[in-house]
Amino acid sequence: MAFPIQRMRRLRTTAELRGLVRETHLEPGDCILPLFICSGEEVKREISSMPGNYQMSIDIAVRECESIRGLGIGGIILFGIPPEKDEEASGAYADDGIVQQAIRAIKRAEPRLIVITDVCNCEYTSHGHCGKVVDGDVDNDITLEWLTRSAVSHAHAGADIVAPSDMMDGRVAAIRRGLDAAGFVKTPILSYAAKYASCFYGPFREAAESTPQFGDRRSYQMDSANAREAMREIALDLEEGADMIMVKPAMPYLDIIRMARERFDTPLAAYQVSGEFSMITAAARNGWLDLDRAIVESLTAIRRAGADFVLTYFARDVARLLG
Ligand code: PBG
Repeated sequence: MAFPIQRMRRLRTTAELRGLVRETHLEPGDCILPLFICSGEEVKREISSMPGNYQMSIDIAVRECESIRGLGIGGIILFGIPPEKDEEASGAYADDGIVQQAIRAIKRAEPRLIVITDVCNCEYTSHGHCGKVVDGDVDNDITLEWLTRSAVSHAHAGADIVAPSDMMDGRVAAIRRGLDAAGFVKTPILSYAAKYASCFYGPFREAAESTPQFGDRRSYQMDSANAREAMREIALDLEEGADMIMVKPAMPYLDIIRMARERFDTPLAAYQVSGEFSMITAAARNGWLDLDRAIVESLTAIRRAGADFVLTYFARDVARLLG
């Protein structure tokens, strides 16, 4: 019983009918906004490759968080730009590190805003790699100690969720053990489980000043050609105790999001990364596409592929458009 009985256009006739049969919804509460925290006071430096995003000092971040909570955005994820970097990433796990201070200040002002922390070392090492470099390569097991100390220090400062993004083997198990031993049995781990070695992190590395000074991240982040391997990464992280998993980047990896959604019942996040943000923003600034529609379409596609929530630099725009 096809045409003329079946007419797919019937349910597309009006905005109201389209709304009634819409399968995927996007709300500000599904979005997590990344913030870049630097030292100083009253500092708000725009990141040239990410217009509308800033390196900001803690006082400014606290004010931002008041408005973010007012907009109904799901939460924030913090990245730190320490005043000094060294070989040992000591700023990553210092009790008075930039992110630890930021967490305390933000939670004091906005106790109900969900604060996620990125657990990684690349913003804190002088060489820009995600861990301890031994003989030209990142040493996995030494790096686990730094990551565990970082995660515990974040929880101690009041982080609601810790999110390891380094792609070392065994980091979820190590962090879970460390958190539990320190009494943080209730702090969930959101694992960047399937994180690819991607050119789309380019603008972020300007924002976080974390470009590797030699080599690249291909010995720890995933090869973009692989899908089955992502399922193994996710399965292992879940075995190690991850509470939630993430796929990153998002739009070039919608197939991975869909595969993960079909195989795993765990809450699933996706990260619409800096390069995805910058591409859309640059094209819109050239008048080549409509910014607002590109934001809603790209994020809806990521949700449709299967992500429960999305880390996105467009979180404020979602609130403006759909809040
Ligand atoms: C830290 C980290 C990166 C991103 C999130 N956490 C950079 C990288 O792995 O090089 C990228 C986020 C973005 O591009 O928006 N390891």
